Amino acid sequence: MPGDVRLLWVLRDVLGVTGPKYGCGINVCKACTSHVNGKAVSPCSVPVSELRPGDEVTTIEGLAGDDGLHPMQQAWIDHDVSQCGYCQPGQIMAAVDLVRRVAAEGRAITDDDLDGIRNICRCGTYPPHPAGDQSRRRAHVSARQTSRTPPRQTPATSGTPGR
Ligand code: FES
Ligand code: FES
Repeated sequence: MPGDVRLLWVLRDVLGVTGPKYGCGINVCKACTSHVNGKAVSPCSVPVSELRPGDEVTTIEGLAGDDGLHPMQQAWIDHDVSQCGYCQPGQIMAAVDLVRRVAAEGRAITDDDLDGIRNICRCGTYPPHPAGDQSRRRAHVSARQTSRTPPRQTPATSGTPGR
């Protein structure tokens, strides 16, 4: 496979992992947000040549563990965060990454941290529509709740392209 093929295409078209969504293809909308070695990336902008043997790629499909949903997924349900199925996987993966980063820094999550999640709503129900504000608040509450949950290893891997 040519090294400049983007990871998102390998995930979706080669491996059939469709949780990460294609929105813009240029690292703007964040609908494709997934993790490489536990850190959020936009796979639409990651050439497979940048992956190394042993790199662990996790998509929304790999977030839940054998013991059930990831705490962020559960919080999303508990707080009825009404993101649509298109942007929701990327939103959740971005929120998990944020909670991990803040925990690693040993501090509490702030409004600025939460506002730093730049995932874009393409369907129009997110701000400035009032219902979008409600979704945003609920997503923030979910992230805060999860930041107080003891961390758990994310065991699953969706695929390791490039090997
Ligand atoms: S499709 Fe990856 S950031 Fe938009
Ligand atoms: S694109 Fe998902 S709520 Fe708008």
